[in-house]
Amino acid sequence: MIRAWFPTLIYCEPLMGNGLDRLNADLAAECRSLRDFDRAGREWSRRNYPGGYTSYASLNELHHFSSTFTRLERRITRHVRSFARALDMDLRGCGIRMTDCWVNIMPPSSAHSLHLHPLSFISGTYYVAAHRRCPGLKFEDPRLDRFMAAPPRLAGARRANLSHVTYPARAGNLILFESWLRHEVPQNRVGAERISISFNYNWA
Ligand code: NI
Repeated sequence: MIRAWFPTLIYCEPLMGNGLDRLNADLAAECRSLRDFDRAGREWSRRNYPGGYTSYASLNELHHFSSTFTRLERRITRHVRSFARALDMDLRGCGIRMTDCWVNIMPPSSAHSLHLHPLSFISGTYYVAAHRRCPGLKFEDPRLDRFMAAPPRLAGARRANLSHVTYPARAGNLILFESWLRHEVPQNRVGAERISISFNYNWA
């Protein structure tokens, strides 16, 4: 008998049942005005997020400064709790807390290279605006550096046995993962901005 052990769980659900269009319109407008207002963030993005805008290094606690983002935080926290339950995490009676929350705007031709999210336990992204052909979120098998002499996988391999998996970016969807899992966003090749909001959670 062969069984799978040590799975890597990735959570993907719509943020909520109703009202997504309205919320996303509000969020998109706020994200764009943040970009206009945030000179330091635009400067930082020029050097570290080529072609796009992120408030990662400048305005990264948006859930404390905007009521729209606070509403979003409340919604996301419920999902993070269910994900932590699915992972059988024993939070020792502690609460969970969104520590960082920032905006990413990727115009045509921008990309976001492979990275992970330090100093948190669960991270994720919520999609505000995403053309159906814009790039998704691509995750890497965390064991990739240990494969050594392992042969490549067959063309028709089961998806769970592949080294990468890409989740499409769909406006209104929320993706959660454990913060150590490396991921990237391939180049945006469609003529529309891709807007997402990323966040980190800690427990304490
Ligand atoms: Ni990320």
